[in-house]
Amino acid sequence: METKVNEKMREKFNELYVGFSKLNREERLRRLVKMGALSVDDVGFLNAGSPMDIDLAEKFIENVIGYFPMSLGVATNFVIDQKPYIIPMAVEETSIIAAASKTAKWLREKGQIETEIFGTDILGQIQLAVVKDFLAFKSKIQVYKEQLIIQANKDVAAGLVRRGGGVNDIEIRHIKRPDGKDMAVVHVLANPCDAMGANIMNQICEYLKPKIENLTGEVVTMCILSNLVDSKVTRAKITVNQVDPELAEKIEEGSLFSQLDPYRAATSNKGVLNGIDPILIATGNDWRAVEAGIHAYAAKSGMYKSISKWKREGSRLVGIFEAPIVLGVVGGVTQLHPIAKMSLRMMGIESANELSRVCAAVGLATNLGAIRALTTVGIIEGHMKLHIQNLTLGAGAKEKEIPIVQKKLEEILLMTKRISLHNAIDVLRELRDGQVTNAHQETQV
Ligand code: MEV
Repeated sequence: METKVNEKMREKFNELYVGFSKLNREERLRRLVKMGALSVDDVGFLNAGSPMDIDLAEKFIENVIGYFPMSLGVATNFVIDQKPYIIPMAVEETSIIAAASKTAKWLREKGQIETEIFGTDILGQIQLAVVKDFLAFKSKIQVYKEQLIIQANKDVAAGLVRRGGGVNDIEIRHIKRPDGKDMAVVHVLANPCDAMGANIMNQICEYLKPKIENLTGEVVTMCILSNLVDSKVTRAKITVNQVDPELAEKIEEGSLFSQLDPYRAATSNKGVLNGIDPILIATGNDWRAVEAGIHAYAAKSGMYKSISKWKREGSRLVGIFEAPIVLGVVGGVTQLHPIAKMSLRMMGIESANELSRVCAAVGLATNLGAIRALTTVGIIEGHMKLHIQNLTLGAGAKEKEIPIVQKKLEEILLMTKRISLHNAIDVLRELRDGQVTNAHQETQV
C-alpha cells in the first residue's frame, strides 16, 4: 500500500519536475501546488513576502530588533527510501540547490538513496570534576540506577514516557585528570521522541544532580546534554548504478583524500553540511548542535576524517554517510515559525527521525555532487555556469536570447575571469541594439 502511494507520487513528481529550474517563480509555485507540496495559503504567504509577526520574534530570542530574511529555495528530484521529496532549503550560497537537484536527478534515474537510524537515545552528562573514590561512586550508582531512572521518568519525563520515550539508561565513565585525580561522568540516555530533547535532557540531568550527590557523597560540577550523540546515529547510503568506471575511480580517489587528510576532510564535510544546514534552517532546527555533533563524530577515531565514504562495487558507486543528526519536529521554533511549519509540511515529514534521514540523504547527495564536479570539470566551471545562467535570467533575457547572452558571458569570463549582473544587462542591451561588446566587470572568480 505504502509503496503504491509512493509510486504514484513519484510518477506525478517526475512529470512536474520537467523544466522546473527554467520556470519563473510564479510558475514554480504553481507546480509546487500541483505536487501538493504547497497550499494556496502558502503561496499567498510567500507572495506577500513571507510576512513575519514581530511579536513572535520576541518569543525566540532576546533584544529583538527585527528579522533576518534569507532566500528559501527547493531542491528537486529527491527520492529517499522510495518516497519523493521536495526539499526546502534556506541558504545564502549560490549553486547548492542547483547542484543538489542535479545530483538527485542523476540518482533518480540511475541509483537510489536508502536511510536508517541506529539507536533511539540522546545523551546527557553529569560531571563530577573530582571524586574521592571512583569505584565506590560507580558501584553506588549501579545499585541505584533503576531507581533513579524510575524517579526521573515519573517526576520529569512523564510526558516523554506517555509518548513512548523517556530515560532508558544511566552509564558511568571514568576520566583520568592531568593532576592524577579521578573525574566521573554520568551519562543519562533518554529517548526524546519527536523533540530535539535538549531542554528535557538538561532538566533530567539537573533533577538527578542532588540525588546523585546524596547517594554518593560526591559533588556534581555541571550538567548538560552532549551533542556527540553516538547513541543515535543516522545513516544514508547512495548507490549509483552503471557508473562510468573512470568517473567512479576519480570519486573513490577524491573520497580517499578526505579520509586520510583532515585539511581535505574539513572541506568535504562542509560540502555535506551544504545539504544539511539549509534544511535545518528552513525547519527551525538547531544547526549548531548538528554541526558540533557531526564534526565530533568525524573525529571519533582520534583523527578528523570525512563523514562520508565513496567506494566502487563492481559497476556501482556506493556512498555512506553516518553521523548523529538529532532533530525536533515538535515544540519551539519548529511549530511557531510559519516557514518552519510550511517546510515540514512541504516534505510531508511525519517524525523527527524522518527529517533526520532526509538531511543525511541530501547531505550525502550534495557531497557526491561536489566530489563529482571537483574530480571532473572543477568547481569554478560548475559554479560559474550556474552563475551565468542566473545572471542571464536576472538580466531579463527571453528564451531566444538566453543562449546568446550566456555564450557572450562565458567569453567575457574566459577573458577577464570576472562576471557580474552588469555584464549580463549590458550584453542583453547590446544584443537588442544589434551589437555585442564587452562591458565592465565586478565579481572576481
Ligand atoms: C563549497 O561550498 C563546498 C565544496 O568545497 C565541498 C567540497 O570541497 O567537497 C565544493
